Amino acid sequence: MSQATQPLSLSKMPAHVAIIMDGNGRWALKRGLPRLAGHKAGTENLRRIIKACVEFGVKYLTIYAFSTENWGRPKEEVLGLMRILEDVIDRELEELNQQGVQLRHIGQLERLPGFLQEKVISAIEKTKHNQQLIINIAFNYGGRDEIIHAIQHIIRAGIPAENVTSDLVSQYLYTAGNPDPDLIIRTSGELRISNFLIWQAAYSEWYVTPTYWPDFDKDEFKKALESYANRDRRYGKVNSTEYEAKDD
Ligand code: IPE
Ligand code: IPE
Ligand code: MG
Repeated sequence: MSQATQPLSLSKMPAHVAIIMDGNGRWALKRGLPRLAGHKAGTENLRRIIKACVEFGVKYLTIYAFSTENWGRPKEEVLGLMRILEDVIDRELEELNQQGVQLRHIGQLERLPGFLQEKVISAIEKTKHNQQLIINIAFNYGGRDEIIHAIQHIIRAGIPAENVTSDLVSQYLYTAGNPDPDLIIRTSGELRISNFLIWQAAYSEWYVTPTYWPDFDKDEFKKALESYANRDRRYGKVNSTEYEAKDD
């Protein structure tokens, strides 16, 4: 059963929040700890933010946990990150299920070690009917890889060139069926997309904070949502009230 939600009283709430959970390594370095300790702290933080999403009534959360470029890190770190995902599923699945969280995966599952593929598939299966919050775990995910994968499937399906539209491409992405992210948060201050949701982010609002991911708490999350509520999303058009004022 899902717990009661207390939506924030903001003028506008994002239906879909995506997060580049960055800065775990620097968080650890600052404390004289190994990088993996930073990743573990980051995982603890993720529990808090998931809870806050359920409480505030966010419907979709996409989290960037391992990019296609992160394979280039030292072997121990790569394996450590795989183990951490395995541990998180082992420890948290029951509670997530009780909170009404549906887990999904975006990226290439096939390249992950067998033990992890099985864990992820069984977590997806177990939570597939939950509707409170849909979480996309981007693990071995890359935006370019996703687009290449979509093009390959479109060609294999024999779809004629003139039928390839923006909506059709969206249907072939790993995120098919999800609304595009309304708000993308990046922690640790980096001002780049790092191959995350490059198609879906076309009109997302951005929020970047210098805070490292393990320290990005519920209050900081609220600040990001408040910032979003004050944005004027014009989608390339002219704000209608300004336009009318000019006409008078
Ligand atoms: C983000 O933290 C987590 C992953 C990329 C897996 P980093 O590990 O990138 O931390 P920094 O950027 O080195 O501080
Ligand atoms: C992006 O962070 C990937 C994840 C958070 C999983 P990185 O730390 O890998 O990105 P760069 O190298 O700073 O661009
Ligand atoms: Mg980083």
